[in-house]
Amino acid sequence: MSSRVPIEPQRVDAPLTVAATFLVLSITDVPDAIQKVRSSLASIDGLAKNVSIRDLSANFACTVGIGSDVWDEVTGLPRPSELHPFQEVKGKAHTAPSTPGDLLFHIRSERRDLCFEFERQLLDLLNDSIKVVDETVGFRYFDVRDLLGFVDGTANPAGPAVPAAILVAEEDTPAVGGSYIVIQKYVHDLKGWRALKAEQQEAIIGRTKFENEELDDAPTGQQASHKTLATIEDENGVEHDILRDNMPFGSPGSGEFGTYFIGYSRRLWVIEKMLQNMFVGNPPGLHDRLLDFSTPLTGTTFFAPSASLLSSLDPE
Ligand code: HEM
Repeated sequence: MSSRVPIEPQRVDAPLTVAATFLVLSITDVPDAIQKVRSSLASIDGLAKNVSIRDLSANFACTVGIGSDVWDEVTGLPRPSELHPFQEVKGKAHTAPSTPGDLLFHIRSERRDLCFEFERQLLDLLNDSIKVVDETVGFRYFDVRDLLGFVDGTANPAGPAVPAAILVAEEDTPAVGGSYIVIQKYVHDLKGWRALKAEQQEAIIGRTKFENEELDDAPTGQQASHKTLATIEDENGVEHDILRDNMPFGSPGSGEFGTYFIGYSRRLWVIEKMLQNMFVGNPPGLHDRLLDFSTPLTGTTFFAPSASLLSSLDPE
């Protein structure tokens, strides 16, 4: 990559849409798999244009993340300084498992058919170089509520605060303009959740259900809400935000009710600290009560490099 080429981030700041597909892939060991993956990633921008032109008002966007285990082979570039595999977080009551995944495609649009079409063309292109590890199709539920009934995404950074929170800056040259991504696919015990009173649910989340108003933090040392446990300050008292694009998924017919968590951050440690607080608890032992009704089935970390870096991967 020439240093004269301006660094273009991927569309990590694209808005929440009506539809999203989360596609996690692993790279196979066919002889030219890595080459095929490199050239496919380099042409992702063209592929996205093919699909998005069909309805420019549908806000199509695709973000590609590369996993720690394949970063070196796929990019041939130095590693982003914090990139490592998702580390299992084991609390007394609940565990966040670490599960495999080499590539992540976060596909978004106002139209489900555009997500479908892009995914179809993408998998054609990648062909036998990959295997699908997980494909989750998310949808918008009423006013961006999760399936627990709470508005999800309120405290996300907005406007100029977005790049500041999610894009790696000059301090980390090979990673500049990129973003760390953590995904976790949660399934809910909806029956158990619905047996709680609204006030109990609100105390767990830290916001009111109907009006979405923030509740006060519990006194230090007592059971904290999800909102409080997920608020991270560094040693200088500076708060660090992440960008969440969570989506509901599931099927009432098969009894599946889920939230696909996806967090983008300039600093991986911030998301890791949130997970520590949630699973181990803060103070330790007082875990996030949301986890009594939400079980993570997956947990994988990726790095979404800049669009400039992706397009430079073409072996041609
Ligand atoms: C806040 C739901 C998992 C990080 C919230 C809120 C809801 C929610 C309803 C309050 C509204 C808002 O600000 O968005 C969920 C559900 C999850 C989940 C249903 C999965 C079952 C996670 C995970 C993380 C996380 C795994 C991080 C590792 C945050 C953050 C906030 C938040 C940073 C904002 C805190 C603040 O007010 O500053 N979540 N969440 N969430 N959540 Fe989650």
